[in-house]
Amino acid sequence: MADMRRFEGKVVVVTGAATGIGNAAATRFASEGASVACLDIADDANENTASAARDLGADSLAIRCDVRQLEDQERAVALTLDRWGRVDVLVASAGIFVGGPIADVPLDRWAEISAVNLTGVLISNKVVAPPMIAQGSGSIINIASMAAKTSWPNSAEYSATKSGVVGITRSVAMELGSHGITANAVCPGNTLTDMVQDVSCQVGARLGMTGDEWLEMRANDTALKRLADPSEIAGVIAFLASEDARFLTGQSLEVDGGIILS
Ligand SMILES: NC(=O)c1ccc[n+]([C@@H]2O[C@H](COP(=O)([O-])OP(=O)(O)OC[C@H]3O[C@@H](n4cnc5c(N)ncnc54)[C@H](O)[C@@H]3O)[C@@H](O)[C@H]2O)c1
Repeated sequence: MADMRRFEGKVVVVTGAATGIGNAAATRFASEGASVACLDIADDANENTASAARDLGADSLAIRCDVRQLEDQERAVALTLDRWGRVDVLVASAGIFVGGPIADVPLDRWAEISAVNLTGVLISNKVVAPPMIAQGSGSIINIASMAAKTSWPNSAEYSATKSGVVGITRSVAMELGSHGITANAVCPGNTLTDMVQDVSCQVGARLGMTGDEWLEMRANDTALKRLADPSEIAGVIAFLASEDARFLTGQSLEVDGGIILS
């Protein structure tokens, strides 16, 4: 981990902080001096993230928050403001993957993935906008996916939600830029988290492969011939929240080891 302290005195809200990329982002910001509000529905793992942030010397709160619920997200931001008085950075990482043949998509499954991946991100952006506008500064970082940029079979639902995250990000960037607020999306490639283990089993089985075989195939599709560690996505998230990225907004960055090259 880089030896930098870029976020002393900054306040960061991370959704999906319990595991994976959200966890890596929360601990990265904590290691660089930020106070971190960890939002998730997985209470025990979320407490562990907040406790890891405190072990790094940061102040941190674990807040139960279902991103599908406006009241939960409003309460989480209110608790953050009560404790620290500001919100400098949002990392909207909570998300789920489901997939399958288009002819078989159950509409309740579509409603569920839309609620988490799309409505959840929209609400996260909505609730941090007022304090960031009042401050005249802020960094919004929404976690999309390379599935927003390219397509595979059997993932219409996921691709649609992640393309939607890119759309939300671009519009928010245009709308809030005059208040000193940037908004960018990160589009990770396959990253070694609980989600990718689950995806590898689901998608691998459909292709007659084991999960490990599918992951090896995915690694071979990248220029770097490997999958990402969550800390490598967190490093880019931290850069986007840093002073070095103040003139970077409305973008969606592929952090995929070189899958999508044009
Ligand atoms: N891992 C990858 O390969 C990969 C690739 C591209 C994009 N992404 C995206 O990155 C983000 C993080 O994924 P990850 O790989 O870290 O997965 P993960 O499953 O490890 O983490 C997702 C977190 O979101 C939380 N969550 C789920 N539903 C929630 C809800 N309704 N309210 C609050 N929290 C909720 C989970 O409890 C979990 O802690 C997701 O948006 C995912 O789509 C992941």
